[in-house]
Amino acid sequence: MPAAAFVDRLNEQVGHEFAAHQQYVACAVYYDGETLPQLARFFYRQALEERGHAMMMVRYLLDADATVTIPGVSAPQTGFADIVAPVALALDQERRVTEQINALAGTAREAGDYTSEQFMQWFIKEQVEEVATMTDLLRVVNRSQHDPMDIEDFLVREHPGEEGSDPTAPRPAGE
Ligand SMILES: [Fe+2]
Ligand SMILES: [Fe+2]
Repeated sequence: MPAAAFVDRLNEQVGHEFAAHQQYVACAVYYDGETLPQLARFFYRQALEERGHAMMMVRYLLDADATVTIPGVSAPQTGFADIVAPVALALDQERRVTEQINALAGTAREAGDYTSEQFMQWFIKEQVEEVATMTDLLRVVNRSQHDPMDIEDFLVREHPGEEGSDPTAPRPAGE
């Protein structure tokens, strides 16, 4: 059985991941409404990734025979001052999640729950990538905010489609 403190925190993290999903859908919808389809597509896809993270955590708890509580989430931000704001918000969110993920690994280690610590390793690596991706995108969006088609071109070039499936990723619930 995973450590009780870890189970509690991982259940909370399921909520943070679903909240991230909702927030990224809200960002995608904002860009869709501004007719910036590549930015919209990027955030719709990002949202699905966040849902995937939540479901991987749910699967881990189920496999470990631990209690799973699917939490409600608070409403995402839906109005934005300009096209930079959603990306800035996303970068803040990814930095916050990185701290949460590291704290989860720390909780597991403190409890001597090395199986759970090991489970968190994939998420630690994933957060490095997500923070880097959002940092790059924020730089591009800041530079080209008055030429949004340059941002759209950047996304077509640098983020063309679905990323290939990662064989090291934990299995999500429902798949
Ligand atoms: Fe996530
Ligand atoms: Fe993320």
